[in-house]
Amino acid sequence: MPKLKLPKPPVPGALQPPPARPGEANGKVGPLDTGAEVGKTVVDWVDERTSLSGAARWMMFRKVPKGTNWFYTLGSATMFAFLSQAVTGVFLAMFYDPSPTRAYESARYITNEAFLGEFVRGMHKWGSTVMVILVFLHMGRTFFFGAYKYPRELNWIIGVVLLILTMTMSFTGYLLPFDQRSYWATIVGVNINGTGPLVGPYLSDFLRAGPEFGATTLSRFYAIHMLLVPGLIAALIGAHLYLVAKLGTTAPPWMKAEVEPELREERA
Ligand code: HEM
Repeated sequence: MPKLKLPKPPVPGALQPPPARPGEANGKVGPLDTGAEVGKTVVDWVDERTSLSGAARWMMFRKVPKGTNWFYTLGSATMFAFLSQAVTGVFLAMFYDPSPTRAYESARYITNEAFLGEFVRGMHKWGSTVMVILVFLHMGRTFFFGAYKYPRELNWIIGVVLLILTMTMSFTGYLLPFDQRSYWATIVGVNINGTGPLVGPYLSDFLRAGPEFGATTLSRFYAIHMLLVPGLIAALIGAHLYLVAKLGTTAPPWMKAEVEPELREERA
């Protein structure tokens, strides 16, 4: 007797292949339709879920004005100096102890005994000077190129706050080695702050953590130096760069704008 062959059951709707999307004719699978293809690279995988590549393209690929030169690298150089300070600072914080009785000894330990301690401490110390010099040079560049004018006034103001914060980093970091020089120099500095109009006395009380230089002054300076101000600087650099990307950079003042041929004045 011949074997009876039952007809195949129909494929449920949910398991039917989806209709071809535009550009996927002939049953060809689209680039993101199989797990293997979606996960081809980590970047693709993250981008598929976040669409961050659009933001990266917006930030990185742009036209720059004619005449852009080396002076335009001073802002990025300042940013790299800040990043270097952040990285070396993290390693210093692993050994530094902000207590008045142990701060000096912990700084001495970093220099004389910790692995690469002298190198990291040296980088942080010289890096602070480099950052201050760079921020002033960058400010000079933006000033002399007229980059503070419309529509970049807000970025100039953010820059002024970044300058003050950079100086605050230098001032608060100077106390941390807690040797004779840093101790007395900071007392002088805090007293100078106290002579400022209106807010001066409050500012010096805030910095000292009281009316006199006391046991908690050092931890107050340490918290300002390694948490408060770096956090503010990082956030403001983000805002600063957002505005640079949004508005573009200024052309050097000696560049003349190109006039479309049809707008050129007829010369006799
Ligand atoms: C932590 C400090 C700072 C960092 C990391 C920083 C970073 C940058 C970067 C990367 C740029 C784009 C490239 C360039 O023009 O160099 C820029 C542009 C600019 N910065 Fe800064 N900056 C800082 C401080 C300042 C200060 C102190 C000022 C002024 C008071 C300032 C004002 C400006 C202005 C106006 C622009 C736009 C330049 C243009 O359109 O040509 N920045 N900054």
